[in-house]
Amino acid sequence: MPTIKEILQTMDYGPAPESTKEAQAWLDQHGRRFGLFIDNAWTDATETFGSFNPADGSELAQVTQATSDDVNRAVEAARRAQPAWVAMGGHGRAKVLYALARLLQKHSRLFAVLETLDNGKTIRETRDADLPLAARHFYHHAGWAQLQSEEFADYRAVGVVGQIVPWNFPLLMLAWKIAPALAAGNTIVFKPAEFTSLTALLFAEICQQAGVPAGVVNIVTGDGRVGEAIVNHPGIDKLAFTGSTEVGRIIRKATAGTGKKLSLELGGKSPFIVFEDADLDAAVEGLVDSIWFNQGQVCCAGSRLLVQESVYPRFIEKVKARMQNLRVGSPLDKSNDIGALVDPVQQQRITGLVESARSEGCEVWQPACDMPVAGSWFLPTLITGASTSAAVAQTEIFGPVLVAMSFRTPGEAVQLANNTVYGLAACVWTESISLALDVAPAIKAGVVWINTANQFDAACGFGGYKESGFGREGGKEGMYEYLTPLAEDRRPAAPVVAEKGKVKPAEDGNPFAVDRTAKLYIGGKQARPDGAYSRAINGANGAFLADIGEGNRKDIRNAVEAAHKAAGWSKATAHNRAQVLYYIAENLAVRADEFAARIAQQTGSKSAAAEVQASIERLFYWAAWADKYDGLAHQPPMHGITVALNEPVGVIGIICPNENPLLGFISLVAPALALGNRVIAVPSEAHPLSALDLYQVLDTSDLPGGALNIVTGSADELARTLASHFDVDAVWRHDGSAEGCAEVERLSAESLKRTWTGGAKGRDWFDPKQACGKTVLQHASQVKNVWIPYGV
Ligand code: NAI
Repeated sequence: MPTIKEILQTMDYGPAPESTKEAQAWLDQHGRRFGLFIDNAWTDATETFGSFNPADGSELAQVTQATSDDVNRAVEAARRAQPAWVAMGGHGRAKVLYALARLLQKHSRLFAVLETLDNGKTIRETRDADLPLAARHFYHHAGWAQLQSEEFADYRAVGVVGQIVPWNFPLLMLAWKIAPALAAGNTIVFKPAEFTSLTALLFAEICQQAGVPAGVVNIVTGDGRVGEAIVNHPGIDKLAFTGSTEVGRIIRKATAGTGKKLSLELGGKSPFIVFEDADLDAAVEGLVDSIWFNQGQVCCAGSRLLVQESVYPRFIEKVKARMQNLRVGSPLDKSNDIGALVDPVQQQRITGLVESARSEGCEVWQPACDMPVAGSWFLPTLITGASTSAAVAQTEIFGPVLVAMSFRTPGEAVQLANNTVYGLAACVWTESISLALDVAPAIKAGVVWINTANQFDAACGFGGYKESGFGREGGKEGMYEYLTPLAEDRRPAAPVVAEKGKVKPAEDGNPFAVDRTAKLYIGGKQARPDGAYSRAINGANGAFLADIGEGNRKDIRNAVEAAHKAAGWSKATAHNRAQVLYYIAENLAVRADEFAARIAQQTGSKSAAAEVQASIERLFYWAAWADKYDGLAHQPPMHGITVALNEPVGVIGIICPNENPLLGFISLVAPALALGNRVIAVPSEAHPLSALDLYQVLDTSDLPGGALNIVTGSADELARTLASHFDVDAVWRHDGSAEGCAEVERLSAESLKRTWTGGAKGRDWFDPKQACGKTVLQHASQVKNVWIPYGV
């Protein structure tokens, strides 16, 4: 007689197909031809392209390729609609968002089936993950609309936003983008991916039913050319993009200097770390969710498995056994785990990467199971034996392909985890809470899941570090992406910098009598400029004041190196950083008269003494914030907590304003230091001496060498070097140079570093509304969400 185990092994799932009747009827109702949704009306479908079911290759519908005229009309409609949408007030908008959430729930099966037909992902995922989460985003953001006047009183909507999404979570990405934008009072031109437009078009109908006013949500379909038209449209105030890092770079370059607000959610190569004390069976299940969810076509997929050496062989065996049980097949079958890839082009891309690994000698393992003949499929795949620099270990494969490696110590795990240009997400599996919470902050990623994987919620921010992009979606942090501080509207034009007059000789007649060459400040020491050039600085009356070092590329490189060596500053306690800033203020106060005289000498300012006092106060202000920018404890619907940590950005290059040479410098450098960043500051090009006089103050204030480096010289040249440097994480430029700011943004695209630029506008550095507050704190930090489930 067979044993129960043997009987169970012979049992299989019967087919459990989901009906497509309603979805097919909806497509038929539209004649399987869709125009664009502009100003609450449908355009005729003129030039169209096919949208296919990737599971069998059949055509589902023809969708319109929008023209640039269509994009123009969509932007104009959005622009017209925006004031009235704002005027509806928070409660008015909350009601509309709530209606959208309700309607999504009411029609959730239709949406889920249509998504599965169009994208190829399993019905289990669309039904149980995409749809509930999409609805949750509208509910959550209905709440932010309701609370807007209280929680975001000092902000306004950005205006008209352009939103471009990829094909891997078509409706969910729409919800992530549209819900916060609407809550904040923006109007929208939205473009779905060309492979997966259908649920966005169904959503347009929901908008009509929910009472979204005409022009508030416009949906234009088509390929990258439509995306480009949106990106380059002068009527767009903000762009939110999710997709490949390559297109993210193109968009960063295209928007440089335009003043458009930008958030980019790009690729990833996320580590899935398993320590030897982890619950290995639970970790295997987490891994299934992490890399085989949506066929691995997930930006935060745990595509790099890092397992502690002692349990590596055992864990790999468990993974293989589990892979053997994964069911690949019709995405409409409710018992299937793995559906179809979105398009044959993805299948070819993944095949190419896997074959290159095989030819490099890696072991490629796939379970023995049947795959459908028609459509685009790829078996779950495990690659072992790859070097850390192999293409499969570094490139985003965007398919069901896992690359496994081992490590020995937690330190090595962190090093391997961070050995990528990306920084979107990471999973840490261990039963030791102290190990998990030690490793989580060390990983450079926007999301860390502890003993869980691929959890998302509208209350928790999501977004990347490094080349995974910038900006957050979800939670309070995500709302700021769609808001502009009111103080920004009050900024004055940048002061005109006086043409450099001919330098007069020093008053004593001989500039060489005393060596007044101020050096650079690198690694806590005064350093001669590498090029051995100096430039003369003259005062307000045109008289020679001093020579200063002419910093060059090499000096910036040295400063960046010194800043990296000063990593201890980022790990110092917030209390400690605050103490150092207070100490700088105290030492500055002792020499207030001298600093005031220097400001007056350089600028001729009548309020030099006030500038020094304001600088001292500003140091106190940022010292006060150092241990108070706490982060948040989010409450997603899970038994656990998500902790949003405000981490330093890293190494920041700061081009300081020309005006207010002391206050402008301190207003930018102090918040960066307060939050644990290390800084390379380029002082006012016109009046650098106030910053240089600070050397002695810094030396006596316990600031560790390398935390703040000061390089004088040409703002343009130094900014260029900082913006192109791959080890600089952010560049701020506030010297009123529109072209200079544009160049920083353009050059930052290569490493996708964050930028904060002032363009041609100045800032009243005395006005706390313009120079202090949340906006500065946000620029000086990046949010990491650490998910910590409770219990077992
Ligand atoms: P993609 O980045 O080209 O497309 C994403 C969206 O951007 C689509 O709506 C597309 O029409 C639009 N787009 C394309 N070119 C544009 C341009 N020049 N300006 C504005 N919009 C533009 O991604 P694609 O080609 O669909 O996938 C290629 C690879 O990118 C994937 O294999 C994967 O590695 C990665 N990817 C990453 C995603 C993520 O969430 N991180 C999502 C999709 C793709």
